[in-house]
Amino acid sequence: MFKVKPLAPERLPELLRRMPKAELHIHIEGSLEPEMIFALAQRNGIAIPYSSVEELRRAYAFTNLQSFLDIYYAGASVLLKEQDFYDMARAYLLKAAADNVAHTELFFDPQTHTARGISMETVIHGLHRACVDAQADLGISASLIMCFLRHLSEEEAFETLEQALPFRDKIIGIGLDSGEVGNPPEKFARVFARCRELGFHLVAHAGEEGPPAYVWTALDVLKVERIDHGVQASKDAALMRRLAQDRIALTVCPLSNLKLCVFPDLASHNLRQLLDAGLAVTVNSDDPTYFGGYMNDNFTQTFAALDLNAQHAYQLARNSFEASFIDTSAKRRHIEQLDGFFESFQ
Ligand code: HPA
Ligand code: ZN
Repeated sequence: MFKVKPLAPERLPELLRRMPKAELHIHIEGSLEPEMIFALAQRNGIAIPYSSVEELRRAYAFTNLQSFLDIYYAGASVLLKEQDFYDMARAYLLKAAADNVAHTELFFDPQTHTARGISMETVIHGLHRACVDAQADLGISASLIMCFLRHLSEEEAFETLEQALPFRDKIIGIGLDSGEVGNPPEKFARVFARCRELGFHLVAHAGEEGPPAYVWTALDVLKVERIDHGVQASKDAALMRRLAQDRIALTVCPLSNLKLCVFPDLASHNLRQLLDAGLAVTVNSDDPTYFGGYMNDNFTQTFAALDLNAQHAYQLARNSFEASFIDTSAKRRHIEQLDGFFESFQ
């Protein structure tokens, strides 16, 4: 592993902001800024139950995952047209580029939209066009991961998969999100097996609020390649060994965990414990506008709270490229650029 030069602690925030990194856990609907929610509501003639941007922002006081999801799904109701999906993704990709995110894998929740009569084509074409443009004019690669809503049935997930198949060349992987407790991974065993046959990469949210048992079944029943969140794994020593041995990446989202009260404060977050145990931890923003920060906010605040250093920064950035679904040569190129950045950073 690349040995990072010692760095004065006051230089660390700049290093974190400027280092190249990949984001692997971002729900694109969770990047809708309150201002854009209002602008789209007006553009589309949709009523929302908030009178101002400030009132909407004040509602972002969450106590757990479900209290967030209620507002998150309400916010997404302003998205109607292909251009709306494009504008939302474009705004996120501009922020990501400013944070020196070189590659990103975007989750989207089609069922939130198809349930309102919006076609799969509208959703995917808008998001995909934003990804293509970002490569062309921002130099950032972006791909799409389609998530099934786990509070809905497996049958509905199968219908969603069917609707998405005409656009399969625009989707790199399949994920599982929404309310975790009571909706274990194994509820989706058959549809994930089908997605696997179809050649999609597989990920699932597990161990955010739910127990370590859900991480085990995400791995052993769904056969996912990464675990989204996974922070509850530290309660199960055998699971920690499994994750370390198999280099299963965890896409950890510190500010999300803070806002959803998974940990009482950032200083109590177990990211450092997971890293020290040899797990392939990555840092991500989850739903940046709702949780108060994009990638660099997550990095700088977490490093300050947990007293992490430049070697940790290198490890986290490297893990993010290694755990991504880009091809081997692109991975090698990103890691060379990362090494070059750390060598030249003064
Ligand atoms: N967990 C589960 N579902 C989600 C999340 C999350 O953090 N964000 C958006 N959908
Ligand atoms: Zn998430």
